[in-house]
Amino acid sequence: MDTVKIGLCGLGTVGTGVVKVLRDHKARIKHMLGCDIVIEKILVNDISKPRDVAIDRSWLTSDPSELVDHDEIDVIVEVMGGIDGTHELLERALKNKKHIVTANKDLMALHGKTLLRLAKENQCDILYDASIAGGIPIVRTLVDGLASDHIEKVMGIVNGTTNYIMTKMTKEGLDFDVVLKEAQELGFAEADPSADVDGLDAARKMVLLANLAFKMELNLEDVTVKGIRQVTQEDINFAKSLGYTIKLIGIAAMDNYKAEVTVEPTLLPQDHPLALVNNEFNAVFVHGEAVGETMFYGPGAGSLPTATAVVSDLMEVVRHLRLGISGRSYIEPQFKRKLKADHE
Ligand code: NDP
Ligand code: HSE
Repeated sequence: MDTVKIGLCGLGTVGTGVVKVLRDHKARIKHMLGCDIVIEKILVNDISKPRDVAIDRSWLTSDPSELVDHDEIDVIVEVMGGIDGTHELLERALKNKKHIVTANKDLMALHGKTLLRLAKENQCDILYDASIAGGIPIVRTLVDGLASDHIEKVMGIVNGTTNYIMTKMTKEGLDFDVVLKEAQELGFAEADPSADVDGLDAARKMVLLANLAFKMELNLEDVTVKGIRQVTQEDINFAKSLGYTIKLIGIAAMDNYKAEVTVEPTLLPQDHPLALVNNEFNAVFVHGEAVGETMFYGPGAGSLPTATAVVSDLMEVVRHLRLGISGRSYIEPQFKRKLKADHE
């Protein structure tokens, strides 16, 4: 196998980054894998739109079947977002034996279970590290790096947009609406930014993290969610005067095989490590029975950080393909879904 051909769905903030990482790191990728990764087709809404990266215009299509039904495409890289249509597209791709790399936490939080099982049935990979905390390889860490431990708690800042807003409101006294607009212009926010602001994006990421950490099948409805819309400049100033900072914090904890997952604005002492995580950066604490506490920090959103995670997953797919072990990364949940709240 000299070449692996990919179909890229989406050429926005993340997709543009994927094209750049594949182009700028081509030699390194080839050296690591022993083969080239080449783009065969790119799915977009509007093929006539000007693009922020040099591409061969013949790659562009608005017809998904040119990717998912293409005989020579081995991997679909999904960085276009969306839920129902995208779910159908990825199901069709898996049935056509295409491996998947996705940055889509909305889809994985809602349909991850069925997609992962379908992938396994078709001996395909579906990897999604880019969907949680952008440039922090947290999925890999939970699946591989800390695989031997019993994880009891995962806690952190997993939404870049709200952290950007809280940072600018706290440090520069800027208005919520002004900073949200900036976060949108910088490409951090979701297509519908209320998913960020109301905590849903963080909730989707926390349920994925909880399921990976605790080997359970929790649902989005199991997460208690509060966003930052109600946090006022007065709240921030009052917290500051008492030596605290307000951050949107996600917590997934398992105690006695019962889970609890929350996302809410939280008061942190100003010298707490999470209080020092600013702008679009994310940080995740993982507490394991044996390892104790570890902390992971990095850019949580943005074009190149997210694209790095996407391309690293893509490289993992190619390694599996070459070793003939595709579709084996899915591990059946070990524990029944049980919530702390069910027994109180
Ligand atoms: P953008 O809105 O910047 O880009 C979306 C791209 O997908 C565009 O190129 C668009 O085409 C194309 N597209 C969207 N819907 C369709 C469709 N139905 N058919 C064909 N093409 C379509 O999104 P992002 O790059 O910001 O995000 C993409 C995904 O990555 C989302 O799931 C997001 O949650 C996730 N993500 C984003 C991060 C970020 O920092 N932005 C970080 C981590 C994950 P066109 O250009 O023609 O409009
Ligand atoms: N909108 C998301 C965020 C993108 O701000 O964190 C990264 O998942």
